[in-house]
Amino acid sequence: MKVHHEKTRSMVRKAYGTVARKAVSCCSGSSCCGPKPAKSEGELGLSCGNPVGFSKIKKGMTVLDLGSGAGKDVFIAAPLAGPKGRVIGVDMTPEMLKLAAKNLAKFTARTGLKNVEFRKGLIEKLPVKDGEADLVISNCVVNLSPDKPEVFREAFRALRPGGSMVVSDIVLNKELPPALKKHAGLYAACVAGALLRQDYLGAIKAAGFKGVKLLGDTLYRAGGTCSDPITDKAGKALDGTASSITVLALKPGAKQRKN
Ligand SMILES: C[S@@+](CC[C@H](N)C(=O)[O-])C[C@H]1O[C@@H](n2cnc3c(N)ncnc32)[C@H](O)[C@@H]1O
Repeated sequence: MKVHHEKTRSMVRKAYGTVARKAVSCCSGSSCCGPKPAKSEGELGLSCGNPVGFSKIKKGMTVLDLGSGAGKDVFIAAPLAGPKGRVIGVDMTPEMLKLAAKNLAKFTARTGLKNVEFRKGLIEKLPVKDGEADLVISNCVVNLSPDKPEVFREAFRALRPGGSMVVSDIVLNKELPPALKKHAGLYAACVAGALLRQDYLGAIKAAGFKGVKLLGDTLYRAGGTCSDPITDKAGKALDGTASSITVLALKPGAKQRKN
């Protein structure tokens, strides 16, 4: 594991640890992705898309959420996967995992479902077996990784042949000025670490995925979503530079799931 990668992750961990501790959306306190707090168990929604909405989750499926945060998408996916399915959320930030565990207790009390599990780990080194998942989802996380090609290789490994990935994320429509690329607040705000869209889609294909298709594509408005004044100012100036996209990608394989 490269040292400079760990430095980036440590900065991201710190930012999201603070967010989780305060259990606030970035509108009210810190630099992070996504303006909307979710209403149910995943009280804290730091998303930039709706991967579950674009996924055809069937009963019995195993769904893996990369960078699950407080669990928003996990808790939407779990009733769709049903008692015979499983939803596994992976996150590296202890405070987020603590918040997710708290939310899980409420979710279980409300639904009676026991099909959710949160695992501590890196999305660049997923704590899952080869082929464990039918579906990989992720919401506004891969842009935060210092090694995005490795994340997609890991997602590919985690999927069974014939499985699919639906990922919502921020991509750049044009290069950022070098000074902004180094801005830590803007990195944690999911913009400075984002790849150019062609590089992002290229990394997915290079990992072995086929049928790569855009399911959603909207301009990302970073301005006003984050609190620290530099990030906010930069965000406003950047409007139009970044987009929130949702991508579908398939792991080739003969074994199609019986629905
Ligand atoms: C912007 S939040 C998104 C959370 C969640 N997906 C949502 O939509 O609410 C990013 C999350 O990804 C986690 N994260 C960022 N980089 C990661 C990495 N390299 N490995 C594991 N988790 C990571 C952070 O701890 C944080 O919880």
